[in-house]
Amino acid sequence: MELLYRIPMVPFMVYILVLVCSSHANVNERCDDMVINVLRNNITRSLYSIERGVKMLMNEEEDVEDGMEKFEEIPYILNQFLLSKYEEVESRLKKLVRPLLMYSGSNLTSSVYIPESIIDFSKQALRNAKHAQSMLPQLIQCNKKITSNGTGRLSDSLRKYGLDRIADGTKCQYRSCAQGNKLPMCAVGFATGVTGGAAGSYYTVTRNDDTNTKNPAPGTLRHAVNYAGKNKGGAWIVFNESMVIKLKEKLWIKSDTTIDGRGANVTIIQKGLVLANVKNVILHNLEVFSTGNSDTVHVFNGSRLVWIDHLTSKDAYLGLVTVLQGSTDVTISNCYLSNHNFNMLLGASDKDTIDQNLRVTVYRNWFESSNQRMPHCRWGYCHVANNYYRDWHYYAIGGRVHAKILSDKNVFEPGARLEVTPWHPHFTADLTPTIESSEDLLLEGATFHEFLSYGTLTTPETEFPNYRLPLRPTITLASLVTKCSGVLFGQKLRDCKATP
Ligand SMILES: *[C@@H]1O[C@H](CO)[C@@H](O)[C@H](O)[C@H]1NC(C)=O
Ligand SMILES: *[C@@H]1O[C@H](CO)[C@@H](O)[C@H](O)[C@H]1NC(C)=O
Ligand SMILES: *[C@@H]1O[C@H](CO)[C@@H](O)[C@H](O)[C@H]1NC(C)=O
Ligand SMILES: *[C@@H]1O[C@H](CO)[C@@H](O)[C@H](O)[C@H]1NC(C)=O
Ligand SMILES: *[C@@H]1O[C@H](CO)[C@@H](O)[C@H](O)[C@H]1NC(C)=O
Ligand SMILES: *[C@@H]1O[C@H](CO)[C@@H](O)[C@H](O)[C@H]1NC(C)=O
Repeated sequence: MELLYRIPMVPFMVYILVLVCSSHANVNERCDDMVINVLRNNITRSLYSIERGVKMLMNEEEDVEDGMEKFEEIPYILNQFLLSKYEEVESRLKKLVRPLLMYSGSNLTSSVYIPESIIDFSKQALRNAKHAQSMLPQLIQCNKKITSNGTGRLSDSLRKYGLDRIADGTKCQYRSCAQGNKLPMCAVGFATGVTGGAAGSYYTVTRNDDTNTKNPAPGTLRHAVNYAGKNKGGAWIVFNESMVIKLKEKLWIKSDTTIDGRGANVTIIQKGLVLANVKNVILHNLEVFSTGNSDTVHVFNGSRLVWIDHLTSKDAYLGLVTVLQGSTDVTISNCYLSNHNFNMLLGASDKDTIDQNLRVTVYRNWFESSNQRMPHCRWGYCHVANNYYRDWHYYAIGGRVHAKILSDKNVFEPGARLEVTPWHPHFTADLTPTIESSEDLLLEGATFHEFLSYGTLTTPETEFPNYRLPLRPTITLASLVTKCSGVLFGQKLRDCKATP
């Protein structure tokens, strides 16, 4: 509260905010919207710009402060806000602002060369940060009113806007605040809002056999998955140790299920995972391969709200991850996907017009040495962002029948073939998809043929207001993705954590 008295002028916006908070009949609803607007328009943007500014200033080399986890302050600060720990919010904000202050004041006359753009940027970031700080007391008051009314609406609304999940999209899950069933705060892209089995109970898998598929033994993965289907709220499935599970038959995942392989090295082989007409599923930190004559993960028949994250998947005859037949709101992130032929089929048939509703985010994956479909998209909106491609053969990204594919800040490092899309002179195939490249990094002569006969795309943020996906510049992307994609365990996890 101390801050309140130091602010010379209460901005107009805040004035309205306070008025609405204290006197309007429909107090909570209005207050809610105000807080969210300010958080969204001011604090979040400010925090992001501060973070970017600090990164630029520090040249991404040194730590900002001892003991402060690098550049991961945003989820922390917003979570602390939601937990009403305002002093912590205040002190973290100050801590973030400090390095900017050093570079953006009037005393920038030192001999150290700092590019003009960085100075301007820092100044803007600092203004935003100060503004955010000045808004804080009023936001706190508003939040207290809402909280004391016991409605919990603010948290609900923030959740709706995805603001409680503001986090780096790759390393969030290893933060202490995302442990166990708190993991969903890290979900980004179209699967934002997924909770998996967080509302159910934990189930620990303790044995690797799959002997009796009809009547699976307690402690097996198959028993766990069946349990999730019966238990209220589903189940959050974890493993007590590393194991290789040889499935005798496909594993049919139920709604409200999380399979969370963190802390172990879990490998599933022989048969794949199937999601048919289910919703709210998280598959996290697993290796699935050698599944023979099927996809490793097959999402179909109207499944929705599915987050496939940190999966290593290779060597499948058909595809690695497929999403089809009316399935939607899927994010496939941080996976290491390498297969000699097919990778990711999003929409399987020109006739499946139901896939007009398909929305998939393909994010921070490493696609290595595959033939095609990374992804191939039909009908729907496929946001392909911040992935690293090394050596594709026939094509990397392709689409048909009015697919909308935004290739956004990816890195393409060619091997045998230079062209990213399935394009060649005199191309006569389906020209109805839109395939647009935005700020992709094309290395070593890679080329990108855009398909823009039907115009350009709007960003998913514009089209879907709750959409959020933190993107990092392509220049540092390859080192992050090669170190942090796929299953992280042991040394690999330590290497990822140490990667800026
Ligand atoms: C804060 O939000 C208000 C209202 O939405 C806007 O007018 C103002 O420019 C924002 N300030 C910053 C720094 O984004
Ligand atoms: C300017 O220099 C002083 C002394 O080096 C430092 O304490 C201060 O943070 C710098 N920045 C501003 C905005 O004064
Ligand atoms: C809490 O909010 C509801 C909905 O706006 C309102 O009807 C109720 O009177 C409020 N209760 C208190 C104690 O302010
Ligand atoms: C996991 O559980 C199984 C079955 O109870 C047990 O044999 C094994 O030792 C456990 N592993 C660890 C690391 O505790
Ligand atoms: C994980 O388990 C697989 C299968 O046993 C093994 O090949 C791999 O080396 C293990 N990885 C680590 C990091 O222990
Ligand atoms: C799911 O499968 C059922 C049974 O085969 C079918 O009737 C239904 O139309 C399918 N739904 C979708 C969205 O594919």
